[in-house]
Amino acid sequence: MDYKKYIADKIKVEGVDREEIASSLALPPNSQMGDYALPCFKFAKILRKSPVAIAQQLAEDISPDGVISEVSAVNGYLNFKINKAGLARDVLKKIAEDGAKYGSSSVGAGKTVCIDYSSVNIAKPFHIGHLSTTVLGSALYKIFNFLGYNAVGINHLGDYGTQFGKLISAYKRWGNRDEVQKGGIHAINDLYVRFNNEADEEMEREAREYFRLIESGDREANELFEWFKSLTLEYVKKIYDRLDVHFDSYAGERFYTDKMVPVIDELRDKGLLKESEGAQIVDLEPYGMPPCLILRSDGASLYATRDIAAAIYRKNTYDFYKCLYVVAYQQNLHFKQFFKVLELMGKEWAKDLVHVAYGMVSLEDGAMSTRKGKVVWLEDVIAKCVEKAYAVVSEKNPDLENKQEIAEKVGVGAVIFGALYNNKIKDITFSYDKVLSFEGETSVYVQYTCARASSVLEKAGGAKCGFPEDFIPSDVEFEVVKALASFPETVLDAAEKYEPSYIARYAVDLAQKFNKFYFDCKILTAEGGVKDFRLALTSATLRTLTNALSLLGIGVLDKM
Ligand code: ARG
Repeated sequence: MDYKKYIADKIKVEGVDREEIASSLALPPNSQMGDYALPCFKFAKILRKSPVAIAQQLAEDISPDGVISEVSAVNGYLNFKINKAGLARDVLKKIAEDGAKYGSSSVGAGKTVCIDYSSVNIAKPFHIGHLSTTVLGSALYKIFNFLGYNAVGINHLGDYGTQFGKLISAYKRWGNRDEVQKGGIHAINDLYVRFNNEADEEMEREAREYFRLIESGDREANELFEWFKSLTLEYVKKIYDRLDVHFDSYAGERFYTDKMVPVIDELRDKGLLKESEGAQIVDLEPYGMPPCLILRSDGASLYATRDIAAAIYRKNTYDFYKCLYVVAYQQNLHFKQFFKVLELMGKEWAKDLVHVAYGMVSLEDGAMSTRKGKVVWLEDVIAKCVEKAYAVVSEKNPDLENKQEIAEKVGVGAVIFGALYNNKIKDITFSYDKVLSFEGETSVYVQYTCARASSVLEKAGGAKCGFPEDFIPSDVEFEVVKALASFPETVLDAAEKYEPSYIARYAVDLAQKFNKFYFDCKILTAEGGVKDFRLALTSATLRTLTNALSLLGIGVLDKM
């Protein structure tokens, strides 16, 4: 049962609908006050009464029933206490029935959400700067699917530009087929870096010529380009596998080459194109922005041109309800500009394009340097975290079997969780010690809690899922129950705000409440029905934590 909706049905405020009331119901920080609370301040204006008077009036109008055990008005808040046994019984039953689907819903049925994330650049390093877009986008992809939307994961590859001309030129000068094949993306990157260090005017001219050859369909140039692309993709896909990241489309910038012409024609027909110093632009001055460059003076298209074509293509192909771009805030202006251009073109759906911006990740030792060739590869960060996880796990439990397997899940989980735990717009400093702590707000802590719950259930020979007559859960137990009950709305909030961090924080909070229960209450040595209830609570917690972590792409362990 949805308690918020149930309570909302009882509250009648003129001019405010049930949905709005339900979403205004909050969980008070302290459960002495109540289990749910409605702040009445926001109704003061509509009702022309003080919040205190509104709360009092509502409290008088609502009488307790089998679900609501107490209603009271305190300082403009309308507080509800819930029938503890009823809620506990409902929630445990629901989780046992829904299993891996607990928290999912069908609110998104029939709606498609395109999510553009990771969007790596071919032949360039896949570095720590790509961590957030990759794991944030992937979590959103899983969350939207879980809510019944049809999520389309798109890797908008950076596979267009003069750098490929440079790369061909460098390869022809210094490259060797076998070495590049073997060295993969690292060998390609070395060639590219060497080109940038050594190039003179003649080489730059040659590079432009090779780029022109790719564009004009020259066979050799295109074969080389495709080869560099496949080496890059092979490499990144291995990392995606480790991070449990998936895509439905790898249509990158190059894919839009032939789709830009009609877009440019449309811009011209609509009188939006202007010439400026030989280039074609859309003037955005009336909107307080610099112009959006569409064609360079040499006729070449730009990043924005391809993004405009891509948005139109996605609308035509997927008829999206929303199209999200999970890209760092450094590109704020770019997104504002091309969204505006689409709006000026009369695309009413431009309002459905969302730039999901996030902050920077740097390493503790400041190693995120952008100097030529000095970047921190994401692969190395993952490897180091797994290596450290191995040490941490072995120290905690030297007798573990499959330590390597466990270290992989713990280390990879810590990288993901470390990037997702904070509000996405914040800049973060990644610290190996912090993300691998058993005590902190970490995936390791949550995974360890899962292993603890598994071990209890194993010793008990499984959960019985009983509920004794006349049993009223204690405060500590009820805190766990309430946290369990709020998982579905946490998932909805995370989707609405594009904030997987809500789920990460939720997992830590539930784990903390469970651990308090675990240390305060006997489980295995409790009597009869109480033992059954506590086992059911343990099993429901394990289930819910597993669901929460899996939405983030993190696995759980039954031993650690
Ligand atoms: N490849 C780009 C970069 O590394 C990100 C692309 C983001 N997606 C987009 N549709 N512009 O900066």
